Amino acid sequence: MTGRIAGTGSYIPSQVLSNEDLSKIVDTSDQWIRERTGVLRRHIVKQDTTVSMAVKSAEAAILDAHINPEELDMIIVSTISSNLLMPCTACEVQKKIGAVNAACFDLNAACSGFLVAYSTVLGYIEMGIVKKALIIGSECMSKLLDWSDRSTCILFGDGAGAVVIEAADGEKGAVVLHSDGEKGNALCLETHGKITMNGQEVFRFAVSNVPKVIEELLHKMGKQREEIDAYILHQANQRILDAIAKRLGVDKKYFPSNIREYANTSSASIPILLDELKKNGDIDKGQQLILAGFGGGLTWGAAYIRI
Ligand code: COA
Repeated sequence: MTGRIAGTGSYIPSQVLSNEDLSKIVDTSDQWIRERTGVLRRHIVKQDTTVSMAVKSAEAAILDAHINPEELDMIIVSTISSNLLMPCTACEVQKKIGAVNAACFDLNAACSGFLVAYSTVLGYIEMGIVKKALIIGSECMSKLLDWSDRSTCILFGDGAGAVVIEAADGEKGAVVLHSDGEKGNALCLETHGKITMNGQEVFRFAVSNVPKVIEELLHKMGKQREEIDAYILHQANQRILDAIAKRLGVDKKYFPSNIREYANTSSASIPILLDELKKNGDIDKGQQLILAGFGGGLTWGAAYIRI
């Protein structure tokens, strides 16, 4: 027994903040941001909240999966930016979509959160406790930024992505997760505070640890790098994606990216990208994917999934 992706959905707020717009707020330039990050613009909420974006992405994923909300046994929302601490965002989603039979909770593993939510659901499915689950990454990063700090405010954007996972026969999924609390200071957010970051340390951490965790996962699965159809990584920085591909010796074309449009949407970035790739026909049934995330904690990990 394993978990398969039955449907995906995403929601991106329509308000766009370009690099040019940002250069009027802080001392930066379009050229600097493009060259250092690959980001051209990001989308920022106007009326939406973490809850409303989660609900919209959830509705799209349920529609795509052709299921009724009552069939869901579990809803997990990964977020560091919920507008509500209690009730949790997952319970709010349950209420709004009528998923009356779902057990609901939120989890926080920063930008690795979607991966941790996926591995949690996979565990419940493989134990036979859950058959259909909804996992959501929803982030309102714009509320967590110090808009006078050019080293962080240029990096992030808002959005939500959701995936319905169903129990299915077949090859087991696999996940590898790691954390290093000793390095937590590299990327921090105090309650009611704003994000602070040592950019160079986080960059080095991602480029050195993500290739290793992908190798660890491939070894665990007995798979070769070439067998993987797409490496779907947390969208933090195009240079990080390119450096990881290079270290693994895998062509960049197997590392899809949409960071130019959305910037870093934390735990929403992987499900948003998954949804886009699926809707564009860039990934298809039977393909083998590796998802990998990294971020605050520090946390990082990778998951193998056959769609
Ligand atoms: N515009 C213009 N200049 C900027 C700037 C901006 N937005 N932000 C920083 N700078 C300046 C710095 O002040 C520094 O100036 P100095 O040399 O006069 O001191 C210079 O640019 C270089 O800064 P540095 O921090 O060395 O740049 P960098 O090449 O490391 O790029 C990041 C900075 C943040 C883009 C990069 O470190 C990064 O992407 N790190 C990973 C961050 C991340 O992904 N976090 C989330 C993980 S989930």
